[in-house]
Amino acid sequence: MASRTGRPEHRAPPDVFYNEQEARKYTQNSRMIGIQTQMSERAVELLNLPENQPCFLLDVGCGSGLSGDYLTEEGHYWVGLDISIAMLDIALEREVEGDLILGDMGQGVPFRPGTFDGCISISALQWLCNADKKSHSPPKRLYKFFSSLYASLARGGRAVFQMYPENSEQLELITAQAMKAGFTGGMVVDYPNSTKAKKFFLCLFAGVSDSLPKVTSSIYFHHLSPFGHPSDVKDAMMRHRNMKGKSAKKSRDWILEKKERRRRQGRTVRDDTKYTGRKRKNHF
Ligand SMILES: C[S@@+](CC[C@H](N)C(=O)[O-])C[C@H]1O[C@@H](n2cnc3c(N)ncnc32)[C@H](O)[C@@H]1O
Repeated sequence: MASRTGRPEHRAPPDVFYNEQEARKYTQNSRMIGIQTQMSERAVELLNLPENQPCFLLDVGCGSGLSGDYLTEEGHYWVGLDISIAMLDIALEREVEGDLILGDMGQGVPFRPGTFDGCISISALQWLCNADKKSHSPPKRLYKFFSSLYASLARGGRAVFQMYPENSEQLELITAQAMKAGFTGGMVVDYPNSTKAKKFFLCLFAGVSDSLPKVTSSIYFHHLSPFGHPSDVKDAMMRHRNMKGKSAKKSRDWILEKKERRRRQGRTVRDDTKYTGRKRKNHF
């Protein structure tokens, strides 16, 4: 499959991308372990679970169990769902405490109504926005996922998704499908002004929440955008895109964007052709 960007979701379907080699590399990378643990910690904080009480949680896209390890450390019981056999094999090898299920979240989560006190998902949801097969419709798959998740949560249960949205349209699609499934909630953007540190957490409530996500740490910046007012998120995404989404210098996209800017300025610019941005061969 052709790669449109460096994003893993664009390189291959998740069960192909996370093969044995990638799964091992991912799980042994100490930087990755640190980041996933930190994001799991934040997700659990945003879940606002009752204090000193073990809960029964679902970890969607649990992978090799890095996020699950944090849940265990916090004294919770968990079930992990993932589409990659290789990731789950490593979780088994690491003897994680949670129960593991091989499955595609796009087909819905297979649990009885009211099973879980809460759900976390770290760096997995953006995968659902891709159509890896002809039969895949991202809006339908998102809806199927959210509606089954809604049913599997206890009344008032919460779900927190840390994710890497590609653009504001993707965020809007995700939040629209979550709302359609019955969730209320909002988006927490940590470090909104930092290109590198910025993190998106979609916080969903099964039913109306009586309180906003708990914010205990003073090192974070918070922008809560309740659904129906996605403009803050859009602004944050635009800033994100402006800073991060620039095309690589001298690439075809970079040249096309530059030509477009010049046209808008009323300057004379050569027509775009299939050769625009192509590297010239050196002739000796
Ligand atoms: C970046 S890894 C994160 C793993 C884990 N949450 C952690 O913190 O280390 C993303 C995971 O999402 C899983 N995933 C992607 N699409 C999925 C889908 N449709 N259903 C279930 N899992 C999926 C991938 O297989 C992968 O293990």
